[in-house]
Amino acid sequence: MADNAKLTLDGKTYEFPVITGTEDEKAFDIGKLRAQTGYVTFDEGYKNTGATQSNITFLDGEKGILRYRGYSIEDLSSKASFLEVAYLLLYGELPTKTQLSNFEETLNQHTLVHENLMKVFEVFPSGSHPMGQLMTLISALSSFYPDSLSPSKNPELVNLTIIRLLAKMPTLCSMIMKKGKGHPIVYPQNKYDYVTNFLRMSFGNVTDDYMPDKVVVDAMNTLLILHADHEQNCSTSTVRIVGSSHANLYASIGAGVAALWGPRHGGANQEVLEMLEHIRDIDKGDVKKVVAEAKDKKRLLFGFGHRVYKNFDPRAKIIKVACDNVLAKLGVNDPLLAIAKELEEAALNDPYFVERKLYPNVDFYSGLIYKALGFPTPMFTVLFALGRMPGWISQWKELREKNEDIGRPRQIYNGPALRPFVAVNDRK
Ligand code: CMC
Repeated sequence: MADNAKLTLDGKTYEFPVITGTEDEKAFDIGKLRAQTGYVTFDEGYKNTGATQSNITFLDGEKGILRYRGYSIEDLSSKASFLEVAYLLLYGELPTKTQLSNFEETLNQHTLVHENLMKVFEVFPSGSHPMGQLMTLISALSSFYPDSLSPSKNPELVNLTIIRLLAKMPTLCSMIMKKGKGHPIVYPQNKYDYVTNFLRMSFGNVTDDYMPDKVVVDAMNTLLILHADHEQNCSTSTVRIVGSSHANLYASIGAGVAALWGPRHGGANQEVLEMLEHIRDIDKGDVKKVVAEAKDKKRLLFGFGHRVYKNFDPRAKIIKVACDNVLAKLGVNDPLLAIAKELEEAALNDPYFVERKLYPNVDFYSGLIYKALGFPTPMFTVLFALGRMPGWISQWKELREKNEDIGRPRQIYNGPALRPFVAVNDRK
């Protein structure tokens, strides 16, 4: 047990308790700092700020460790199904066989979306970005389920709201994909499992009886699991801060989707593929030039760098191997894969990237798999959202169960001091 942290300020010493996590992570509890000293902390981008004590995901960026509820990402992504992982994140334990089949059955009762939501969906122009559509549709679910607006006192209602959202995600995502292609929507068939159903709705047609290849189902399962949670990242923190105002689940998750869309966060998977195409078509494959421009801050290397991982991203390691396997099994020979590997090697051997500890992240190779599976590039971040859904929901659920305080950061104000108002006719 570490001693209290001591802070000496203007000749006075204050003590703050030290909090230690399961894996020996340490924090000073500054909950009384402002009340006692009149000061706040300043931490742009929250690089040193713990916003919550959570039981869901453990991440060690220095050692490249990621675990959900104590299980390693390596074990889960190779041995579990996405629904098992979703159950684990939501309820804290891996499901028994019976629990899993009950969970699956319950989800299957809620896969359809309200036909009036289809009308909201229909008005999106065909070229509108899939993430804008997803964000809107998820937020719009709150209008169809008014019982979700204030469910906090009824755990069964909370669970129903959660089940509805999780169950409808594959339907919503595949609807969006179909619109992009101008094809009619394929409805869910509840005899199929979660991932197979999603792939059938995305790649099947009303005119055929498409069944996805096992290679495709397995690859999708792995990718969804790898994206399922990542503790207090930008979108999850958004979900938590919105949820802390006691906003309903659909509104909170809609906000999380908005945060994920940004190219510094989940939107990077789309950017990576477009960057690789640009290198192929415009830079004529000259990765050295691309690395030089990144060093000169003329462009970002999308899929590189991470706020927390400063050694390697364990998800990227698994995805790189999966990418080789999936492309080989599907017989896809994508020249972009060779460019990606060349770019990775050039960057990893460059002092700029080595000194800054910039490694490929989860988004670097995932897009190449999505592309090989047949997804259009603008759908990539939607697939990230489909995977992240159980994580966002678990974080929202945990926050509400603990009844955490409303999130409300402070600031240091640097604008003008008080000045007299000048009437509009007297202004120069
Ligand atoms: N290419 C070139 N330079 C970079 C990159 C990059 N991808 N990432 C960071 N740097 C440089 C940055 O310019 C800074 O340089 P300097 O020390 O000279 O000022 C240094 O490395 C430290 O970077 P930072 O911006 O302070 O790091 P951060 O922790 O604030 O940002 C990041 C992390 C992920 C936003 C950033 O690395 C980035 O923009 N990467 C590209 C976008 C990307 O791939 N995002 C996906 C992240 S993983 C999926 C997810 O969970 O969202």
